[in-house]
Amino acid sequence: MKNYKIAIVGATGMVGRTFLKVLEEYDLKADYTLFASAKSAGKTVEFMNKEYTVQELCETSFDDGFDIALFSAGGSTSEKYAPIAAAHGCVVIDNSSAWRMDKDVPLVVPEVNPQDISKYKNKGIIANPNCSTIQAMVAMKPIDDKYGIKRVVYSTYQAVSGAGLGGYKDLENGIKGEPPKKFPHPIFSNCLPHIDVFTEDGYTKEEIKMVNETRKILGKPNMKVTATCVRVPVFASHSESINLELETPFEIEDIKKLLSQSEGIILQDDPKNNVYPMAITAAGTNDVYVGRIRRDFSVENGLNLWVVADNIRKGAATNAVQIAIKLIDLWENDKK
Ligand code: A2P
Repeated sequence: MKNYKIAIVGATGMVGRTFLKVLEEYDLKADYTLFASAKSAGKTVEFMNKEYTVQELCETSFDDGFDIALFSAGGSTSEKYAPIAAAHGCVVIDNSSAWRMDKDVPLVVPEVNPQDISKYKNKGIIANPNCSTIQAMVAMKPIDDKYGIKRVVYSTYQAVSGAGLGGYKDLENGIKGEPPKKFPHPIFSNCLPHIDVFTEDGYTKEEIKMVNETRKILGKPNMKVTATCVRVPVFASHSESINLELETPFEIEDIKKLLSQSEGIILQDDPKNNVYPMAITAAGTNDVYVGRIRRDFSVENGLNLWVVADNIRKGAATNAVQIAIKLIDLWENDKK
């Protein structure tokens, strides 16, 4: 295999640091360069048994000819630098929301729509979906393929780490009685029905992302989807109640069997023994956990699921690294 050149942009952030951990775990050997803002330039980071010096990201950073860049440095950094990287022949796998709804940019969850990865050729950018959307897609895709999903109601319970280091610190400091800096209200001992900014129609951008990204990833532009996204005082892992209305009748046991056999899913559904997905057990792992599978008796073909995953791993870093691995596989196979 060729010695690929990979850039990590935002290497000092919450997701960036997890990129490094996940790359080590997947043992993706490559020639790496780590970028962050001027604030972190010169800092050293231990990665793959080597010491790396963090470089300041600038307009000439991609002149060196990278093959892949994993970006998680916020929307404005992606907006500015992803096209510069792409113009130098580097494929950007972007964790921000900047490019997700661009019709020329594939939005990919490897277990769900791996075939879209090859569309990177359009613009040189692949978007990593929103954290809450990724875990929902892994759970919903097998159900959509077999029964057809008619309508979705998402209610999320999202960890503070989804708001970066600032969110994490607000909970840590809030426990000690200090006021919040990142969130508009204390998050400790509280729930905030407010993730990202509010729009004219009363929804938050996070809720709109879930609606639009679900439709794009499943390739169903008119699917009925609604969402309420809530920040909860949990450090790691997003939990989601997903209410589905299916096109065709189903048996609960068949849904359980289907999900237990699907890639990336671990079924945890034994309520009699208090077994169901939880944030603390999902934290630090790469899988999506599904449980509390039960019929919604209020509508025809209604189904309820409880879906939990580590938002920084499968919801961000792991998904991006899995895309990178599939992209490299694609290139290696093209050579054969
Ligand atoms: P830095 O640590 O130097 O500020 P988080 O979302 O956890 O706050 O992390 C954001 C990541 O994005 C950090 O690695 C941060 O670097 C990086 N970052 C923020 N702004 C820029 C920028 N303008 N150029 C490059 N990296 C940036």
